Amino acid sequence: MEIYCLIAAIRAHLNSLSEKKHVLQFFELQEASQCLSLDVENDIEKMLQKIKEYFTTHNQIPGKILLKNFGTLYCSEAKGEGRFYGKVAVITGAAQGLGEAFARKLSKDGAMVVLADRNITGIQKLEEEISNSSKCLSVQTDVTNSKSVEELVEKSVKQFGGIDIFISNAGIVYAGGLDVAKEEEFDRINEVNYKGYFHCAKACSKIMKMQTRYDQNTYADIIQINSKSGLRGSKANFMYSASKFAGIGLTQSFALELAPYRIKVNSICPGNYYEGNLWSDPKNGLFIQYLNAGKVPEAKNVEDVKRHYLSQVPMGKGCSPDDIYRAIVYAIEQTGETGQAIPVTGGQTMLS
Ligand SMILES: NC(=O)c1ccc[n+]([C@@H]2O[C@H](COP(=O)([O-])OP(=O)(O)OC[C@H]3O[C@@H](n4cnc5c(N)ncnc54)[C@H](O)[C@@H]3O)[C@@H](O)[C@H]2O)c1
Repeated sequence: MEIYCLIAAIRAHLNSLSEKKHVLQFFELQEASQCLSLDVENDIEKMLQKIKEYFTTHNQIPGKILLKNFGTLYCSEAKGEGRFYGKVAVITGAAQGLGEAFARKLSKDGAMVVLADRNITGIQKLEEEISNSSKCLSVQTDVTNSKSVEELVEKSVKQFGGIDIFISNAGIVYAGGLDVAKEEEFDRINEVNYKGYFHCAKACSKIMKMQTRYDQNTYADIIQINSKSGLRGSKANFMYSASKFAGIGLTQSFALELAPYRIKVNSICPGNYYEGNLWSDPKNGLFIQYLNAGKVPEAKNVEDVKRHYLSQVPMGKGCSPDDIYRAIVYAIEQTGETGQAIPVTGGQTMLS
């Protein structure tokens, strides 16, 4: 068994033994003395039995566990408080925009957060800002690269002991109709928005399966940040829309496959977040792209484009990170639903 799966199983086992939640930190090839020693060649059940015996005898978890020939696990009680106390959450695309907002909120709500993005400067800056840095880790990641995503998952487990929530949020958009769209853009958008989500679900579900197996009281969550364009076609924006539709196919299929392991898989489909860079960046934002592409024929400036889009929302406002986060909280806290695409669109997209 891979060492990372074993670590996740040990944390889950410790969580199942006591009321408290635990965090484990693994140091490769570091041989600590005076600690519980496990032979990783052994059967996993035997190893967990040894941990249980230690717990029963000492009435506390072992502070250190030597995984012979691999390294040492430092085990402690998770710190902090909040609705996500003791949970480990990984967020891709966390360097800016929605991902950054979700990371801040999850951390405030007590989770240990792993910030993943191609933009290392952005996530490191955020890591510094998130008040308690012992609860935050940045990992430079390219979601289009399976190796890079596997490393993200391994580093998360090494730092915290597992992954309870994985938010597949990294995404890109290239607007444009059939006359202007380029094949390279079509491929790239699918690499990030569609295949990237596959890489993430594949790598994190392996860890989550161990956790739900060895802690029968727990669930895990994979949440994909999709879009209203994943529910309804988008004029002159077909590359993005199709990549997001495909993501919903993955969500439904992953949900069917992972439900027996108590891993929920849901997509959240936000409407437009106009204040974020994606729309408002003065150079490459969608307002300026749509203005230049003539997507809103009567528009003379960015304000006209904005008015046009706002007029399509029954609630008369754009989507906010706060509202999307409420949907994330719902997806995690409930245990009766999986495989859904949850709209947060101010009524712009209604499910039938
Ligand atoms: N902003 C909106 O109006 C809106 C609406 C609906 C859905 N969404 C979705 O929400 C998600 C986040 O959007 P946003 O507005 O915050 O975007 P953003 O452009 O502000 O941020 C996206 C982040 O993803 C990172 N990223 C891009 N490619 C990556 C890769 N290959 N590997 C790792 N990281 C990568 C970028 O570096 C960036 O930090 C996207 O999936 C987007 O499709 C956004």
